[in-house]
Amino acid sequence: MTVFIGGAWPYANGSLHLGHLVALLPGDLLARYFRLKGEEVLYVSGSDCHGTPIVLRSKAEGVSPAVIADRYHQEIAACFEQLGFTYDLYSRTDCAFHRHAVQKLFIKLQERDKLKPRRVAQVYCNDCAQFLADRYVEGNCPYCGELARGDQCEHCSALLDPLEIINKRCKVCGSSPVVKETEHLYFTLAGLQPEIEEYFQQYSRHWRENAVKLTERYLQEGLQDRAVTRDLPWGITVPLAGFESKRIYVWVEAVLGYLTASMEWAQQRGQSWKRFWGDGVRSYFVHGKDNIPFHTIILPALLKVLGGFHLPDRILSSEYLNIEGKKISTSRNWAIWLPDMLADYPADSIRYFMIANSPEKRDCNFSWEEFINSHNGELLGAYGNFVHRTLVFVEKYYQGEIPGGIVPKQLAKKLEDLYKTTGEKIEKGEFKSALEGVFTLIRWANKFFDQEQPWLTRLSNPGNCAQAIFVCTQIIANLAHLLEPFLPFSTEKIRLCLRMNDPFWDLTVIPAGIKIQTPEILFPRIDQKRIAEERERLNKKGNGGRC
Ligand code: MF3
Ligand code: ZN
Repeated sequence: MTVFIGGAWPYANGSLHLGHLVALLPGDLLARYFRLKGEEVLYVSGSDCHGTPIVLRSKAEGVSPAVIADRYHQEIAACFEQLGFTYDLYSRTDCAFHRHAVQKLFIKLQERDKLKPRRVAQVYCNDCAQFLADRYVEGNCPYCGELARGDQCEHCSALLDPLEIINKRCKVCGSSPVVKETEHLYFTLAGLQPEIEEYFQQYSRHWRENAVKLTERYLQEGLQDRAVTRDLPWGITVPLAGFESKRIYVWVEAVLGYLTASMEWAQQRGQSWKRFWGDGVRSYFVHGKDNIPFHTIILPALLKVLGGFHLPDRILSSEYLNIEGKKISTSRNWAIWLPDMLADYPADSIRYFMIANSPEKRDCNFSWEEFINSHNGELLGAYGNFVHRTLVFVEKYYQGEIPGGIVPKQLAKKLEDLYKTTGEKIEKGEFKSALEGVFTLIRWANKFFDQEQPWLTRLSNPGNCAQAIFVCTQIIANLAHLLEPFLPFSTEKIRLCLRMNDPFWDLTVIPAGIKIQTPEILFPRIDQKRIAEERERLNKKGNGGRC
């Protein structure tokens, strides 16, 4: 099987936080798992380097947008690396390759007659010398009179056209904007409704519930043509006569990044990208729920028009992660930033918690208490402890050589079943349950160790003792496979200890007599005091923050 995995492209206008991680981690789990199975995998993503927020930040700092994009791209890429993400290519939307490829695709859309010019009135700020994106238009709601912003009134929920907001103010500089005419290209999405409906019917049974529901709603309401150009000083220039001063709408070029990054990867490796975008491929798209329509409507519509591309198969959209019971807000600094977190905690602990508490079906919560308890409890107390007590026993009483024994049929069956069920769950996007299944084995293994009492049988019944330790070692070796997609750093340590080769997704047996390497502690204990300290750090400045 050939598998394509597209991870959503984080905006390069700020640091990554736990909310990003929880939505994106499934991509790495899938990529690692399919590689272990020996499938051909292409896993790509990159930084989303265009769009208004980057422009605003650059203005605030008095530097060019490229400086901002560059800074955060570097930081984001470093975070992914530290977390063990195994992208085949992590690109960026402001690179020449992407720009040229997108411009070519955009011209194709035009040739296929799917881009129509339209004159529209828009809110323009003279002081900022730019048209204002919806969310930068503030004022009073024409229906209820309350303070409103953008395209919806938070008070009365009315859908607004920013043009009709009363007493308009530019959210950037506070001055009163004017209404000005401009011309934009519209992607004729309305006309593609039948195609997208058909696509939805055929593909959506493998999507997460939230993606199915939301897409259904959009289809029921009827697709609308969408403006795909913007009056912005930063972005990919529209390669069409009369529109050279405009930029391609950031979402359109970003979703095409999956394709351009595949092409860029192929060019770098001297490989073909087509097999990842043709018949027979299985594709996964992994992102947060605010990204749904771009992946279930816009991207398939673009690909349909461009023609000859396999459409997105599996849509894995995460619900949200709250922090200490409150919604993440980057503007109020209520977030846990990954550069901070990675400075203090092991990547596997962060990965573990983010999977065990993954918002697969509903919003989930991160709390410092649960995080530290899950590290000390499950990771250290169950998994680390089992590995450690077994390998230390081998060191101490068998001169570091795995004692002789046999793999009981029942154990082989138990492990083989676990490979099967864990794999099936991962393929379906049920990572939480997949991980739980492996930890059930770990708890069983700890009980087995306790019941066998090797510390007693060592003297009273050496044969039994050797067999028990042999069995425990086999379980550890298989954990080094089964947990690899989830906890790649600790499993690598185990494989080094047991002198194992590259992992694969199947039962493995370590021969007796192998001399193991001194076992390292997999997870050091985190002091309970840290719970209070971290909470305080989060609450500092009244609204949480980055120190
Ligand atoms: N930058 C967007 C976000 O952070 C995601 C873009 S995903 C892509 O929400 F498909 F457009 F690449
Ligand atoms: Zn302004």
